[in-house]
Amino acid sequence: MLNSVQHYTSMNGNDTDKASFALDGVEVEFQAGETILAAASRARLYIPHLCWRPEFKPHGSCRVCIVKANGRAVAACSTQATAGLAVESQTDELNAQRKTLLQMLFVEGNHFCPSCEKSGNCLLQATAYEMGMEGPHFEEFYPNRPVDASHPDIMLDFNRCILCELCVRASSEVDGKNIFAIGGNGIGARLLVNSTSGKLVDTDMALADHAMNVCPVGVILPKRCGFVIPIGQRRYDIEPVSEQGDEPS
Ligand code: SF4
Ligand code: FES
Repeated sequence: MLNSVQHYTSMNGNDTDKASFALDGVEVEFQAGETILAAASRARLYIPHLCWRPEFKPHGSCRVCIVKANGRAVAACSTQATAGLAVESQTDELNAQRKTLLQMLFVEGNHFCPSCEKSGNCLLQATAYEMGMEGPHFEEFYPNRPVDASHPDIMLDFNRCILCELCVRASSEVDGKNIFAIGGNGIGARLLVNSTSGKLVDTDMALADHAMNVCPVGVILPKRCGFVIPIGQRRYDIEPVSEQGDEPS
């Protein structure tokens, strides 16, 4: 078994303890309070995820980051790393569960990848490819989700929303604007715009907002610059998601 706690001598000459856990047999050091996913991401080891980004607290909604920690199924984004933990991630069983979760996300919305501006830059699409998803498997819901093109510079295509709340957190915690919220429950849950009209034009959303950059799918898009980079030459067209770190796209 791998050593879970090792002693190092720091720059100032003091002994420090560095704790580690094993991810699929690879030792990963973590800092106090860090989650399994945060530590793996820092070590550039891939655990599939959709609703997590390093700059935000975990949300724990997509469950795509499911791993087994000492044999127990947990969400890697919200489970604290502990010394000596044996974490399994890349197993056929877990990848099959992730694939099912992804297939459900695809049928709950309207995802027309071949014509989507986000194709090739989409974390949902890239993760589905990574998990070997070849079709939706389940019957599509085809929900009615009209787009919001009211804002002069930004468009919202709710058809693609996976309710990860990253835009909600970015707008609230970074931009200080609270422009987005999730309303409703279960299959009726949807992304809402916080304005009297419910339209984006009646908010102070701006292209420079962090909320413009965090959507893992193609909901929040700038107008008048579609397909500037051709499909086939985009981030996940060039390198699979499992080979990339979590820096912003
Ligand atoms: Fe997540 Fe994008 Fe939907 Fe916001 S719009 S909840 S970032 S999928
Ligand atoms: Fe962990 Fe979504 S990334 S639940």
